[in-house]
Amino acid sequence: MIPNPDYMKITQGEFVFGKATVFSEEALKYKKFLPETESAGGGSIVYEKAQIEGYKLSVKEDGVKVEASGAEGFFWATMSLKYMLLTGSVLPCVEIEDKPRFAYRGFMLDTARHFFSAEFIKKIIDTLALFKFNRLHLHLSDDQGFRFGSKKFEKLVEVGSKREGTRGDSVEHGGYYTKAELCDIVSYAAERHIEIIPEVDIPAHTGAILASYPNLSCEGKTKKVDEFFGILGHTLCAGKEATYKFLFDLFDEIIEVFPSKYIHIGGDESDLSVWSKCPECQKTKKEYKLKSNTELKELMLRRVECHLKDRGRKVICWNDAVKCVSDDAVCQFWQGKLKETLAFADKGGKVIVSKFSPYYLDYPHGMHSLKAVYQLNPILDGLSSDGVKNVLGVEAPLWTEFVDSETKALRQMFPRLLAVAERAWSSNADYDAFMMRLPSALNVLGKCGVEYTPVEKANPKRGAAALETLKFGLNLIDKTTLPSLIRAAKAKSKR
Ligand code: ACM
Ligand code: ZN
Repeated sequence: MIPNPDYMKITQGEFVFGKATVFSEEALKYKKFLPETESAGGGSIVYEKAQIEGYKLSVKEDGVKVEASGAEGFFWATMSLKYMLLTGSVLPCVEIEDKPRFAYRGFMLDTARHFFSAEFIKKIIDTLALFKFNRLHLHLSDDQGFRFGSKKFEKLVEVGSKREGTRGDSVEHGGYYTKAELCDIVSYAAERHIEIIPEVDIPAHTGAILASYPNLSCEGKTKKVDEFFGILGHTLCAGKEATYKFLFDLFDEIIEVFPSKYIHIGGDESDLSVWSKCPECQKTKKEYKLKSNTELKELMLRRVECHLKDRGRKVICWNDAVKCVSDDAVCQFWQGKLKETLAFADKGGKVIVSKFSPYYLDYPHGMHSLKAVYQLNPILDGLSSDGVKNVLGVEAPLWTEFVDSETKALRQMFPRLLAVAERAWSSNADYDAFMMRLPSALNVLGKCGVEYTPVEKANPKRGAAALETLKFGLNLIDKTTLPSLIRAAKAKSKR
């Protein structure tokens, strides 16, 4: 099984789950998550409350007994049952004792660069649940699209949810989730013990917001929603009170829909150079005696953090902004600022590990192979023993600049996400043993209608990996990335 349970002993015999199988009252609540069966079957499935961590699952010839302290443990056991039922037509007699390694086991989907339907998100939720993930982070806003169906700010939908094309293809791309759709997704996920974490990335990556409301930028100029990718320098003005009013109102609307403890406020890749030329940003810096644009970014993020804190929420930010939030925030590490992130965790700050290489699933298998994903120990190197305790868990992101279909998304996700699932859940890691269990997990994915990259392509040989990497690199070159690539090459040749 993936993720591998803490303890699992298969014994002689089997249990046939079928139409005649009797469910206890508690077990009946979970029946709908199990695959349909045509067998006659018999015996019983009994769920009982017990003061244990995780869950215990015992399959004997006359039936199944599950023990857990509550709904979450019962759900995990149900997912183990589902997995086994998808693997074979009968359940082998087995004893399982199991619990998660990390409290936070996440996946991120970028819905801004390409829009994915609510139906597809539900399919992802079902698959995440089966592999015992418990967080789905939705990146809802970026330069190329705004996807939260705001009622307070209708232009975010009218203007921000569409773009004229993608990298010059002149094919309009757009979409957004209505608040009703999002509420439905949230409750669908909650039933499957997955929390949806919404992200509105600030102060940069806000091109779609600024196309909708140009007055929130420093220059106030009208612009289009971007169709090219990169670090484009679209940054909210930090000097105008209108920006804060907008953010407070927008986040208020967001928290009406998303009950999650954490709200993601981004904070990554902020090009703050526009602030240096903006009289209002400069005035704010003077007023608050701020020495740098980074301190002004801190002011913005902390004001938003305080606003959310007053409403009982905590924030997550990318580790670019680790110095711009309070110790109560959660820092999501992807790259850079490692020293600062380690210091944050060592002081008690909570961290999520999303290390770019190899956890970024939009990158080709030639760069981030299945093996590399499995072999990353999801603890940041250099943490003190106290710091290690502050790693809440892991999250693998799928950015979608170059992921324009559901099939492509699934093939980027799987099987690598199974490796993340196992490292997030299981206390013991053994790559060879994982690879032995992988074929039956892929079979399970297939039965769920989830496409995946075949193993030989997920772990490509050197030549194929180099070719795939080269193709990926060449595809990155376009009219927005070329100038910065030339600048970087020139800078390198001068060094
Ligand atoms: C990121 O990849 N910019 C968080
Ligand atoms: Zn400004």
